Amino acid sequence: MSITRVGIVGSGIMGSGIAEVAAKSGYEVVLRSRRQETADATVAGLEKSLTKQVEKGKLEEGERDKVLARVTATSQLDALADCQLVIESVVEDLATKKDLFRDLNHVVGDDAILATNTSTLPVIEMAMETHRPQQVGGIHFFNPAPMMSLVEVVRPLSASDETIAAARAFAESCGKTPVEVKDQAGFIVNALLFPYLNNAVRLLENGTATREDIDAAMKGGCNFPMGPLALLDLVGLDTSVAILDALYDEFRDPNYSVVPLMRRMVTAGQLGRKSGKGFYDYHR
Ligand SMILES: NC(=O)c1ccc[n+]([C@@H]2O[C@H](COP(=O)([O-])OP(=O)(O)OC[C@H]3O[C@@H](n4cnc5c(N)ncnc54)[C@H](O)[C@@H]3O)[C@@H](O)[C@H]2O)c1
Repeated sequence: MSITRVGIVGSGIMGSGIAEVAAKSGYEVVLRSRRQETADATVAGLEKSLTKQVEKGKLEEGERDKVLARVTATSQLDALADCQLVIESVVEDLATKKDLFRDLNHVVGDDAILATNTSTLPVIEMAMETHRPQQVGGIHFFNPAPMMSLVEVVRPLSASDETIAAARAFAESCGKTPVEVKDQAGFIVNALLFPYLNNAVRLLENGTATREDIDAAMKGGCNFPMGPLALLDLVGLDTSVAILDALYDEFRDPNYSVVPLMRRMVTAGQLGRKSGKGFYDYHR
């Protein structure tokens, strides 16, 4: 079955980015938020981002209008009925995602593929909520989705080769480079990245160095484009804690055990860029 219409559920950092990527790649996109105002605001944000690209000479004006015309914003799950592929990108919480997969299973056609953008959670748990576990997989984009070239295609035990091939082909059609990985917490990138990020917070908490010096050290010493604390602010501290908790649940490795400071910051609403304050302050 060929994919022409893609549903995206969740319009946070990642859902909005994936919608932009898919619409720019020629797909009809149905973007679903729980509230219509949020869905509309996300499309307005997309228009702003595309207009900036036009102003910088990176996108033709006509192309911007075509991309926007491909995107529909909705609060109704039923509006995803004609999508051949739905990618969920809601909060990193297994119970929420399982409920969503159960509902999506009844909304989309029998041939449709359901995918999750989870960073760490077991894809098999979502697959088994549906009557089509062979047509469920992970399509894991990176942040910011329009800029990052990697997509991890996650193969739960239940997935068919056809589903994995379709997920790979979709990622490639979006100009991304897919890698295939087993359904194991953190997949490749986050399993390797998060102990590093967590330990950077530990250095800050211990007073080993200032936030600026920790970030400057990893940029200058390892040639990383961003320091770890700035990267945590970009990812979102709530999402980062959820990722580390899922990794710790699976492996019981102390490197995955969330540093207390980070959990306290989440409780304080200091989530990083999206809330205006994290390890650094952001003017909104
Ligand atoms: N932030 C990253 O760097 C990053 C990178 C790759 C993948 N991811 C994954 O993408 C997914 C979304 O993360 P994000 O960073 O976009 O988070 P976000 O906080 O920006 O957005 C979360 C979205 O989920 C919605 N939501 C919250 N509770 C919900 C509920 N009970 N039911 C339905 N929707 C609900 C919110 O309204 C919001 O639209 C997560 O699975 C995360 O692990 C995140």
